[in-house]
Amino acid sequence: MRAVVLVGGFGTRLRPLTLHRPKQMLPVLDRPMIEWVAGWLGANGVDEVVLSLGYRPEAFTEAYPDGRCAGVRLRYAVEPEPLDTAGAIRFAARAVGLDRADEPFLVVNGDVITDLAIGELVALHRARGAEATIALTPVEDPSRYGVVPIGPDGRVEAFIEKPDRASAPSNWINAGTYVLNPSVVARIADGRRVSIERETFPALVADGALYALQSDAAWVDAGTPATYLSVQLDLARRTGWQPVGVAVDPSATVEEAVLAEGVSVGAGAVVRGSVVGRATVIEAGAVVQDSIVGQRAVVGAGAVLEALSVVGDDVVIEPGRRLHAELVPDPSA
Ligand code: GDD
Ligand code: MG
Repeated sequence: MRAVVLVGGFGTRLRPLTLHRPKQMLPVLDRPMIEWVAGWLGANGVDEVVLSLGYRPEAFTEAYPDGRCAGVRLRYAVEPEPLDTAGAIRFAARAVGLDRADEPFLVVNGDVITDLAIGELVALHRARGAEATIALTPVEDPSRYGVVPIGPDGRVEAFIEKPDRASAPSNWINAGTYVLNPSVVARIADGRRVSIERETFPALVADGALYALQSDAAWVDAGTPATYLSVQLDLARRTGWQPVGVAVDPSATVEEAVLAEGVSVGAGAVVRGSVVGRATVIEAGAVVQDSIVGQRAVVGAGAVLEALSVVGDDVVIEPGRRLHAELVPDPSA
């Protein structure tokens, strides 16, 4: 099976980390996010991935020059301008002929880390004679997702993208994994931005042609600071992941933390519940708590980062400075 992976967004919610790198090239346990996605697809029988690129495409083409990523073959479709999710799918599908094939293809949001069983989704798609079938996952607060109530046979009754929390009719949300018949591509208008969530799925619902499968497999959209942090702490805990090539002073405290290669932590410093990128220096007595630090940064002696602060690549935090829920550099400035 072939899959289109959407990786062309600007990663706005993860700024400043995404000012220079696309979201899906950010590390998750020191391995680019896209490799987790490609590895999961490969393990589920996908042999070719079409990367739907927009923002900073060279980050991907340079990282995988031989066109292979985590064991799967890569192809690239670079949009001339951002076409939004359905526009991007149309563009990528046409670029490699998925719209003319005689079998369905997969589409995946490139920031989803999961072990959802794709075979079950494809099986339901075929059994129902669906035009499109999407995976659903349960979440506590559905308001930042696509909310998807279904009938007893799995037929989708409505697709409501990012509703108010109070009006969300269900806690089951779009998990960002779809099986699409080639005919879906013909439904997507050419030459303009089209959102699959706001336009194409509601049109399929109106035709009774959209089905969904509820899954309780592990699932995270790693596209916000809170989830980008928590998915790594969870994976590290679950898999017993250990950092390599780091220099931690014996008097420092490192707990529930993900340190990438080349990180150093000075005397008496504390890193807890946090992720620290490659070759970053945490100086003596600094505290990094529930926060994210990019690569090659310096957290000066005695500085304190807390409450989901995010420090970008190459940033120097002066000694003694205190960051509480702050972004540095401030992407809105
Ligand atoms: N090529 C391309 N072009 N890719 C895009 C574009 C575009 O114009 N816009 C967004 N993307 C990519 C992003 O890089 C990301 O991998 C994926 O499409 C989804 O975009 P997000 O910005 O992460 O969307 P979201 O998280 O707010 O919501 C989506 O995902 C949720 C589940 O994770 C929606 O599909 C929701 O319905 C869903 O619940
Ligand atoms: Mg997302």
